[in-house]
Amino acid sequence: PTPKIWKIALLPGDGVGPEVIAATKSVLQVIGDFYDHDFQFSEHLIGGAGIDAVENPLPQETIDACLASNGVLLGAVGGPKWDGQKLRPEQGLLGLRKAMGLYANLRPLQVSPVMAHRSPLKKEIVEGVDLIVFRELTGGVYFGDKGRNDDGSAYDVCSYSIEEIERVSRAAFKIAIQRRGKVTSVDKANVMETSRLWREVVTRIHAEEFPQVELKHALVDSMAMHLIQRPRDYDVILTENMFGDILSDEISVLGGSIGLLPSASLGSGGPGLFEPIHGSAPDIAGQDLANPVGTILSAAMLLRHGLGLEDEAASIEAAVAAVLAAGATTADLGGELGTRAAGEAIIDAIRAIH
Ligand code: NAI
Ligand code: MG
Repeated sequence: PTPKIWKIALLPGDGVGPEVIAATKSVLQVIGDFYDHDFQFSEHLIGGAGIDAVENPLPQETIDACLASNGVLLGAVGGPKWDGQKLRPEQGLLGLRKAMGLYANLRPLQVSPVMAHRSPLKKEIVEGVDLIVFRELTGGVYFGDKGRNDDGSAYDVCSYSIEEIERVSRAAFKIAIQRRGKVTSVDKANVMETSRLWREVVTRIHAEEFPQVELKHALVDSMAMHLIQRPRDYDVILTENMFGDILSDEISVLGGSIGLLPSASLGSGGPGLFEPIHGSAPDIAGQDLANPVGTILSAAMLLRHGLGLEDEAASIEAAVAAVLAAGATTADLGGELGTRAAGEAIIDAIRAIH
Protein backbone atom coordinates (compact mmCIF):
# COMPACT_ATOMS: atom_id res chain seq x y z
CA PRO A 1 0.00 0.00 0.00
CA THR A 2 1.15 3.56 -0.64
CA PRO A 3 2.15 5.32 2.56
CA LYS A 4 -0.28 7.81 3.99
CA ILE A 5 0.64 11.44 3.34
CA TRP A 6 0.76 13.85 6.28
CA LYS A 7 1.60 17.50 5.81
CA ILE A 8 3.65 18.89 8.68
CA ALA A 9 4.40 22.61 8.68
CA LEU A 10 7.65 23.50 10.45
CA LEU A 11 8.11 27.01 11.86
CA PRO A 12 11.68 27.17 13.22
CA GLY A 13 11.47 30.85 14.26
CA ASP A 14 14.24 32.46 16.28
CA GLY A 15 17.15 31.68 18.58
CA VAL A 16 17.43 27.97 19.35
CA GLY A 17 14.22 27.35 17.34
CA PRO A 18 15.96 26.26 14.11
CA GLU A 19 18.30 23.92 16.04
CA VAL A 20 15.60 22.09 18.00
CA ILE A 21 13.35 21.88 14.93
CA ALA A 22 16.14 20.34 12.84
CA ALA A 23 16.80 17.67 15.49
CA THR A 24 13.07 16.93 15.75
CA LYS A 25 12.58 16.69 11.98
CA SER A 26 15.21 13.93 11.90
CA VAL A 27 13.32 12.03 14.60
CA LEU A 28 10.03 12.35 12.70
CA GLN A 29 11.68 11.15 9.49
CA VAL A 30 12.86 7.98 11.24
CA ILE A 31 9.38 7.42 12.71
CA GLY A 32 7.91 7.92 9.23
CA ASP A 33 10.26 5.27 7.82
CA PHE A 34 9.47 2.74 10.56
CA TYR A 35 5.72 3.17 10.37
CA ASP A 36 5.51 3.78 6.63
CA HIS A 37 4.08 7.29 6.75
CA ASP A 38 4.90 9.90 4.14
CA PHE A 39 5.56 12.95 6.33
CA GLN A 40 5.80 15.92 3.96
CA PHE A 41 7.62 18.78 5.69
CA SER A 42 7.53 22.42 4.66
CA GLU A 43 9.29 25.32 6.42
CA HIS A 44 7.84 28.78 6.93
CA LEU A 45 8.77 32.12 8.44
CA ILE A 46 7.50 33.38 11.78
CA GLY A 47 8.58 35.87 14.45
CA GLY A 48 11.87 37.69 14.16
CA ALA A 49 12.88 35.50 11.23
CA GLY A 50 9.82 36.82 9.37
CA ILE A 51 10.58 40.40 10.38
CA ASP A 52 14.15 40.09 9.09
CA ALA A 53 13.25 38.37 5.80
CA VAL A 54 9.99 40.04 4.75
CA GLU A 55 9.24 42.66 7.44
CA ASN A 56 6.33 40.61 8.72
CA PRO A 57 6.28 38.43 11.88
CA LEU A 58 3.41 36.44 10.35
CA PRO A 59 3.45 36.33 6.54
CA GLN A 60 0.19 35.29 4.88
CA GLU A 61 2.07 32.41 3.23
CA THR A 62 2.80 31.01 6.71
CA ILE A 63 -0.85 31.22 7.78
CA ASP A 64 -2.03 29.54 4.55
CA ALA A 65 0.52 26.72 4.86
CA CYS A 66 -0.37 26.10 8.51
CA LEU A 67 -4.10 25.97 7.80
CA ALA A 68 -3.47 23.54 4.91
CA SER A 69 -1.34 21.23 7.08
CA ASN A 70 -2.22 18.30 9.34
CA GLY A 71 -0.16 19.77 12.16
CA VAL A 72 2.23 22.63 12.89
CA LEU A 73 5.50 22.30 14.80
CA LEU A 74 7.01 25.56 16.08
CA GLY A 75 10.45 26.26 17.60
CA ALA A 76 10.31 29.62 19.39
CA VAL A 77 10.02 33.30 18.60
CA GLY A 78 11.60 36.42 20.04
CA GLY A 79 14.90 37.76 21.29
CA PRO A 80 16.65 40.97 22.35
CA LYS A 81 17.46 41.78 18.72
CA TRP A 82 13.86 42.91 18.12
CA ASP A 83 13.25 44.61 21.49
CA GLY A 84 11.85 48.13 21.25
CA GLN A 85 10.95 47.79 17.57
CA LYS A 86 7.50 48.42 16.18
CA LEU A 87 7.22 44.94 14.65
CA ARG A 88 7.40 42.34 17.43
CA PRO A 89 8.16 38.63 16.99
CA GLU A 90 5.44 37.72 19.54
CA GLN A 91 2.85 39.22 17.19
CA GLY A 92 3.60 36.29 14.90
CA LEU A 93 2.72 33.69 17.52
CA LEU A 94 -0.32 35.51 18.95
CA GLY A 95 -1.61 36.10 15.41
CA LEU A 96 -1.06 32.49 14.38
CA ARG A 97 -2.92 31.21 17.45
CA LYS A 98 -5.81 33.43 16.46
CA ALA A 99 -5.70 32.51 12.74
CA MET A 100 -5.70 28.80 13.61
CA GLY A 101 -8.59 29.23 16.06
CA LEU A 102 -6.55 27.69 18.89
CA TYR A 103 -8.31 28.07 22.20
CA ALA A 104 -6.70 25.57 24.53
CA ASN A 105 -3.05 25.08 25.40
CA LEU A 106 -2.12 21.75 27.02
CA ARG A 107 1.09 21.43 29.01
CA PRO A 108 1.63 18.01 30.53
CA LEU A 109 4.23 17.35 33.23
CA GLN A 110 5.27 13.89 34.31
CA VAL A 111 8.19 13.81 36.68
CA SER A 112 10.29 10.68 36.25
CA PRO A 113 12.88 9.63 38.88
CA VAL A 114 15.65 11.13 36.70
CA MET A 115 13.85 14.46 36.53
CA ALA A 116 12.98 14.40 40.25
CA HIS A 117 16.67 14.09 40.99
CA ARG A 118 17.34 17.37 39.14
CA SER A 119 14.37 19.25 40.53
CA PRO A 120 15.02 22.23 42.80
CA LEU A 121 12.40 20.69 45.10
CA LYS A 122 12.83 17.62 47.26
CA LYS A 123 12.63 14.36 45.34
CA GLU A 124 9.83 13.10 47.66
CA ILE A 125 7.67 16.09 46.73
CA VAL A 126 7.99 15.92 42.95
CA GLU A 127 8.61 12.31 42.02
CA GLY A 128 5.49 10.89 40.39
CA VAL A 129 3.89 14.24 39.59
CA ASP A 130 1.49 13.68 36.68
CA LEU A 131 -0.53 16.75 35.81
CA ILE A 132 -1.65 18.74 32.82
CA VAL A 133 -2.28 22.46 32.65
CA PHE A 134 -5.17 23.53 30.47
CA ARG A 135 -4.70 27.19 29.63
CA GLU A 136 -7.31 29.26 27.78
CA LEU A 137 -5.61 30.93 24.82
CA THR A 138 -7.87 33.42 23.08
CA GLY A 139 -9.22 35.67 25.81
CA GLY A 140 -8.14 37.60 28.86
CA VAL A 141 -5.77 40.47 29.27
CA TYR A 142 -3.33 39.46 26.50
CA PHE A 143 -6.00 40.02 23.85
CA GLY A 144 -7.85 42.92 25.43
CA ASP A 145 -7.75 46.55 24.43
CA LYS A 146 -4.41 48.08 25.40
CA GLY A 147 -2.78 51.46 25.08
CA ARG A 148 -1.47 54.66 26.58
CA ASN A 149 -3.50 57.57 27.90
CA ASP A 150 -2.69 61.23 27.38
CA ASP A 151 -1.48 61.51 30.97
CA GLY A 152 1.21 58.88 30.30
CA SER A 153 -0.57 56.04 32.08
CA ALA A 154 -1.19 52.71 30.34
CA TYR A 155 -3.94 50.11 30.37
CA ASP A 156 -4.63 46.47 29.45
CA VAL A 157 -8.24 45.33 29.51
CA CYS A 158 -9.13 41.81 30.68
CA SER A 159 -12.33 40.38 29.22
CA TYR A 160 -13.86 36.93 28.76
CA SER A 161 -16.97 35.77 26.94
CA ILE A 162 -19.16 32.94 28.25
CA GLU A 163 -18.46 30.90 25.09
CA GLU A 164 -14.69 31.18 25.56
CA ILE A 165 -14.97 29.79 29.09
CA GLU A 166 -17.45 27.07 28.09
CA ARG A 167 -15.38 25.53 25.30
CA VAL A 168 -12.10 25.36 27.24
CA SER A 169 -13.94 23.94 30.28
CA ARG A 170 -15.51 21.20 28.18
CA ALA A 171 -12.13 20.30 26.68
CA ALA A 172 -10.52 20.12 30.13
CA PHE A 173 -13.31 17.98 31.63
CA LYS A 174 -13.08 15.59 28.65
CA ILE A 175 -9.34 15.11 29.19
CA ALA A 176 -9.93 14.66 32.94
CA ILE A 177 -12.24 11.71 32.26
CA GLN A 178 -9.37 9.97 30.42
CA ARG A 179 -7.04 10.70 33.34
CA ARG A 180 -7.65 10.64 37.13
CA GLY A 181 -10.97 12.51 36.90
CA LYS A 182 -9.97 15.63 38.86
CA VAL A 183 -10.13 19.25 37.69
CA THR A 184 -8.82 22.23 39.65
CA SER A 185 -10.08 25.48 38.17
CA VAL A 186 -7.86 28.45 38.98
CA ASP A 187 -9.06 32.05 39.10
CA LYS A 188 -8.96 35.22 41.19
CA ALA A 189 -12.70 35.34 41.92
CA ASN A 190 -12.23 37.30 45.15
CA VAL A 191 -11.07 40.32 43.12
CA MET A 192 -11.72 40.07 39.39
CA GLU A 193 -15.11 40.14 37.64
CA THR A 194 -13.83 38.00 34.74
CA SER A 195 -12.82 35.43 37.37
CA ARG A 196 -16.29 35.46 38.95
CA LEU A 197 -17.75 34.76 35.49
CA TRP A 198 -15.11 32.05 34.97
CA ARG A 199 -16.11 30.31 38.21
CA GLU A 200 -19.84 30.52 37.40
CA VAL A 201 -19.44 29.06 33.92
CA VAL A 202 -17.03 26.27 34.95
CA THR A 203 -19.38 25.32 37.80
CA ARG A 204 -22.38 25.18 35.44
CA ILE A 205 -20.62 23.13 32.71
CA HIS A 206 -19.44 20.72 35.41
CA ALA A 207 -22.92 20.29 36.91
CA GLU A 208 -24.71 19.99 33.57
CA GLU A 209 -22.27 17.87 31.57
CA PHE A 210 -19.50 16.34 33.69
CA PRO A 211 -20.84 15.62 37.20
CA GLN A 212 -18.64 12.49 37.41
CA VAL A 213 -15.51 14.66 37.46
CA GLU A 214 -14.29 16.02 40.80
CA LEU A 215 -14.13 19.83 40.51
CA LYS A 216 -12.31 22.16 42.90
CA HIS A 217 -11.73 25.89 42.64
CA ALA A 218 -8.51 27.59 43.71
CA LEU A 219 -7.29 31.17 43.85
CA VAL A 220 -4.23 31.72 41.70
CA ASP A 221 -2.03 33.10 44.48
CA SER A 222 -2.56 30.21 46.87
CA MET A 223 -2.34 27.82 43.90
CA ALA A 224 1.17 29.14 43.24
CA MET A 225 2.11 28.00 46.78
CA HIS A 226 0.32 24.66 46.68
CA LEU A 227 2.00 23.70 43.42
CA ILE A 228 5.34 23.90 45.26
CA GLN A 229 4.11 22.26 48.46
CA ARG A 230 2.10 19.34 47.05
CA PRO A 231 2.19 19.17 43.25
CA ARG A 232 1.21 15.50 43.25
CA ASP A 233 -2.32 16.45 44.35
CA TYR A 234 -3.19 17.82 40.94
CA ASP A 235 -4.48 16.14 37.81
CA VAL A 236 -6.03 18.65 35.36
CA ILE A 237 -5.46 22.34 36.13
CA LEU A 238 -7.85 24.58 34.20
CA THR A 239 -7.21 28.29 34.02
CA GLU A 240 -7.38 31.48 31.99
CA ASN A 241 -4.74 32.87 29.69
CA MET A 242 -2.38 34.90 31.87
CA PHE A 243 -2.66 32.77 35.02
CA GLY A 244 -1.99 29.74 32.84
CA ASP A 245 1.06 31.37 31.31
CA ILE A 246 2.55 32.06 34.74
CA LEU A 247 1.60 28.78 36.46
CA SER A 248 2.91 26.79 33.49
CA ASP A 249 6.32 28.34 33.90
CA GLU A 250 6.26 27.68 37.64
CA ILE A 251 5.32 24.05 37.02
CA SER A 252 7.96 23.69 34.33
CA VAL A 253 10.79 24.02 36.85
CA LEU A 254 9.41 21.20 39.03
CA GLY A 255 10.78 18.77 36.46
CA GLY A 256 14.30 20.14 36.54
CA SER A 257 14.57 21.66 33.06
CA ILE A 258 12.48 23.94 30.91
CA GLY A 259 14.08 22.25 27.89
CA LEU A 260 12.19 18.98 28.43
CA LEU A 261 8.59 20.04 28.30
CA PRO A 262 6.19 19.95 25.36
CA SER A 263 2.92 21.70 24.69
CA ALA A 264 -0.03 21.37 22.36
CA SER A 265 -2.51 24.03 21.33
CA LEU A 266 -5.74 22.64 20.01
CA GLY A 267 -8.40 24.29 17.93
CA SER A 268 -11.87 23.38 16.86
CA GLY A 269 -11.50 21.05 13.90
CA GLY A 270 -8.39 22.44 12.18
CA PRO A 271 -4.75 21.50 12.76
CA GLY A 272 -3.12 22.01 16.14
CA LEU A 273 0.07 23.87 17.00
CA PHE A 274 2.79 22.00 18.87
CA GLU A 275 5.80 23.65 20.48
CA PRO A 276 8.21 23.35 23.38
CA ILE A 277 7.31 25.55 26.33
CA HIS A 278 10.70 27.27 26.36
CA GLY A 279 11.50 30.45 24.46
CA SER A 280 14.24 31.23 21.96
CA ALA A 281 16.99 30.97 24.63
CA PRO A 282 19.16 33.69 23.06
CA ASP A 283 21.89 33.03 25.66
CA ILE A 284 22.64 29.61 24.16
CA ALA A 285 21.39 30.05 20.57
CA GLY A 286 23.56 28.94 17.67
CA GLN A 287 25.91 26.89 19.86
CA ASP A 288 24.41 23.41 19.58
CA LEU A 289 23.63 23.56 23.32
CA ALA A 290 19.81 23.55 23.39
CA ASN A 291 17.95 20.52 24.67
CA PRO A 292 15.75 19.26 21.80
CA VAL A 293 13.61 17.01 24.02
CA GLY A 294 10.82 19.57 24.59
CA THR A 295 10.38 19.89 20.83
CA ILE A 296 10.70 16.15 20.21
CA LEU A 297 8.00 15.46 22.83
CA SER A 298 5.90 18.19 21.19
CA ALA A 299 6.23 16.24 17.94
CA ALA A 300 4.95 13.18 19.83
CA MET A 301 1.93 15.25 20.94
CA LEU A 302 1.47 16.28 17.28
CA LEU A 303 1.38 12.62 16.27
CA ARG A 304 -1.07 11.75 19.08
CA HIS A 305 -3.44 14.75 19.20
CA GLY A 306 -2.99 16.03 15.65
CA LEU A 307 -2.69 12.90 13.49
CA GLY A 308 -4.15 10.25 15.82
CA LEU A 309 -0.94 8.17 15.63
CA GLU A 310 -0.78 6.82 19.19
CA ASP A 311 1.81 4.05 18.68
CA GLU A 312 4.18 6.41 16.90
CA ALA A 313 3.82 9.00 19.69
CA ALA A 314 4.39 6.38 22.39
CA SER A 315 7.46 5.14 20.55
CA ILE A 316 9.05 8.60 20.68
CA GLU A 317 8.16 8.99 24.37
CA ALA A 318 9.64 5.61 25.22
CA ALA A 319 12.85 6.47 23.37
CA VAL A 320 13.13 9.81 25.20
CA ALA A 321 12.55 8.14 28.57
CA ALA A 322 15.23 5.53 27.84
CA VAL A 323 17.78 8.13 26.76
CA LEU A 324 17.15 10.35 29.80
CA ALA A 325 17.32 7.38 32.16
CA ALA A 326 20.68 6.45 30.61
CA GLY A 327 21.94 9.97 31.32
CA ALA A 328 22.52 10.83 27.66
CA THR A 329 21.54 14.48 27.94
CA THR A 330 22.39 18.05 27.06
CA ALA A 331 24.18 20.46 29.42
CA ASP A 332 20.99 21.77 31.08
CA LEU A 333 20.60 18.29 32.61
CA GLY A 334 24.27 17.96 33.42
CA GLY A 335 25.15 15.92 30.33
CA GLU A 336 27.65 16.49 27.56
CA LEU A 337 25.62 16.04 24.39
CA GLY A 338 24.94 18.83 21.92
CA THR A 339 21.52 19.40 20.36
CA ARG A 340 22.26 17.26 17.30
CA ALA A 341 23.83 14.42 19.29
CA ALA A 342 20.91 14.42 21.75
CA GLY A 343 18.52 14.03 18.82
CA GLU A 344 20.63 11.22 17.38
CA ALA A 345 20.65 9.42 20.74
CA ILE A 346 16.86 9.42 20.64
CA ILE A 347 16.89 8.13 17.06
CA ASP A 348 19.23 5.31 18.14
CA ALA A 349 16.80 4.49 20.96
CA ILE A 350 13.88 4.39 18.51
CA ARG A 351 15.88 1.95 16.35
CA ALA A 352 16.67 -0.15 19.41
CA ILE A 353 12.97 -0.35 20.35
CA HIS A 354 11.95 -1.55 16.86
P1 NAI B 1 13.72 31.04 27.47
O1 NAI B 1 12.82 29.88 27.66
O2 NAI B 1 14.11 31.34 26.09
O3 NAI B 1 15.03 30.83 28.34
C1 NAI B 1 15.02 30.73 29.77
C2 NAI B 1 16.27 29.98 30.24
O4 NAI B 1 16.13 28.59 29.93
C3 NAI B 1 17.53 30.43 29.53
O5 NAI B 1 18.62 30.38 30.44
C4 NAI B 1 17.72 29.41 28.44
O6 NAI B 1 19.06 29.22 28.05
C5 NAI B 1 17.15 28.16 29.07
N1 NAI B 1 16.57 27.30 28.03
C6 NAI B 1 15.44 27.54 27.32
N2 NAI B 1 15.23 26.57 26.43
C7 NAI B 1 16.22 25.69 26.59
C8 NAI B 1 16.55 24.46 25.95
N3 NAI B 1 15.81 23.95 24.95
N4 NAI B 1 17.66 23.80 26.37
C9 NAI B 1 18.41 24.30 27.36
N5 NAI B 1 18.16 25.43 28.00
C10 NAI B 1 17.07 26.14 27.61
O7 NAI B 1 12.98 32.30 28.14
P2 NAI B 1 13.44 33.83 28.16
O8 NAI B 1 14.92 33.92 28.30
O9 NAI B 1 12.58 34.48 29.14
O10 NAI B 1 13.02 34.42 26.75
C11 NAI B 1 13.90 34.52 25.63
C12 NAI B 1 13.11 34.98 24.42
O11 NAI B 1 12.17 33.97 24.05
C13 NAI B 1 12.31 36.24 24.65
O12 NAI B 1 12.38 37.03 23.49
C14 NAI B 1 10.92 35.75 24.88
O13 NAI B 1 9.95 36.68 24.52
C15 NAI B 1 10.87 34.54 23.98
N6 NAI B 1 9.89 33.52 24.37
C16 NAI B 1 9.24 32.87 23.37
C17 NAI B 1 8.36 31.88 23.64
C18 NAI B 1 7.73 31.16 22.50
O14 NAI B 1 8.18 31.27 21.38
N7 NAI B 1 6.71 30.39 22.73
C19 NAI B 1 8.05 31.49 25.03
C20 NAI B 1 8.83 32.18 26.01
C21 NAI B 1 9.70 33.17 25.68
MG1 MG C 1 5.15 32.01 28.67
